[in-house]
Amino acid sequence: MPGDGIGEEVMEAAGMALDALDLDAEYVPADIGWKFWCAEGNPLPRRTIDILKTCRCALFGATTSKPKDESDRELAPELRNKGLSYRSPIVTLRQMFDLYTNLRPCKAYPGNPLNYRDNIDLVIFRENTEGLYSGVEFYPLPGEVRDVLTQFSPSMGRFKNIPADEIALSLRIISQKAARRIIRQAFEYARKFGYRTVTVVEKPNILRETSGLMIREARAVASQYSEIELWETNIDAQVMWLLKNPNNYGVLVTSNMFGDILSDLAAQLVGGLGFASSGNIGDSFAIFEPTHGSAPKYAGQYRVNPTAMLLTTKLMLDWLGEGDKARHLEEAIATVIMEGKIRTYDMGGNNSTIDMAKAITERL
Ligand code: NAI
Ligand code: MG
Repeated sequence: MPGDGIGEEVMEAAGMALDALDLDAEYVPADIGWKFWCAEGNPLPRRTIDILKTCRCALFGATTSKPKDESDRELAPELRNKGLSYRSPIVTLRQMFDLYTNLRPCKAYPGNPLNYRDNIDLVIFRENTEGLYSGVEFYPLPGEVRDVLTQFSPSMGRFKNIPADEIALSLRIISQKAARRIIRQAFEYARKFGYRTVTVVEKPNILRETSGLMIREARAVASQYSEIELWETNIDAQVMWLLKNPNNYGVLVTSNMFGDILSDLAAQLVGGLGFASSGNIGDSFAIFEPTHGSAPKYAGQYRVNPTAMLLTTKLMLDWLGEGDKARHLEEAIATVIMEGKIRTYDMGGNNSTIDMAKAITERL
């Protein structure tokens, strides 16, 4: 699913790498993104979902989204005023396929001029379906909701007399099942790839119930992995420590919003959007995507760095059980970064997306 803008360009790079690795796979292209919103009123056509259901996993480029008024204006004339509303297709897919793990590795490859520090090798596990992004939100706040909250929580008392249209509420919901499975994924990954620590990043001193539940689950899961140490940190202190001692950490696991913020910070430590890969992983299906968007500013120019997408392809190969191919691809990427002969604009050079992809695939 190349999607929009530079999504198509970096997908071309991924195709070059997969061909060079001779992966035994059939590739099924699927439609997604802004063009399909404009033409069909749906950025995630039904036929795409049907295709995904027949696939082992998927690789996604990026899609464009725009504010509501622009979305309405760009819709084909015959589709306007029919109550259609745009929804980010990747967010829909994460929920539809219950892709509860958001995996974001951040490694400082030697020779990358954008590294904040050498020897950073962090992997962030972000819960992808619940927490503050559960979507249970109120504005204006219905009287019944407020009454029930006031009845059950003394802390609600001081919000009692605020007019309904002067107060908004978003709920942070964490289920034991979701907490347990994201933490288990983090420990399994640490075991498989030899990380010695898993840090659970929360705020249990303030968010006593939701963070408290995450910590309890982390301790219970940790007891089954005697070779891995569990560290517990608070989100606010953790962001300082990530800047101070980024090389101290291995796997970090956290809830949805904390993970969203932490993973962008971590990505910037190792080169930013041109290097940030991710996986949305469920029990039997996964969608892999670079963290960046469609970068309209660069669309059609073949100037962006394909490394994020190639590292994403590496993650996909690992997930598919193609560990050797994944390692070859990562080594080729690391070599090209180290040699420093081919560099896209973000690394201070002026080579194209395809130059970089070629340099990497020639080493496979
Ligand atoms: P963006 O990630 O598309 O680009 C922001 C800037 O980051 C670019 O202008 C460029 O300077 C840099 N950049 C991004 N990818 C790069 C790469 N591979 N190599 C070098 N530099 C790179 O974010 P922006 O501009 O906020 O959003 C553009 C569109 O993408 C919007 O429509 C947004 O909704 C969408 N988006 C989609 C995502 C997705 O499909 N998962 C994620 C983020 C944004
Ligand atoms: Mg984000």
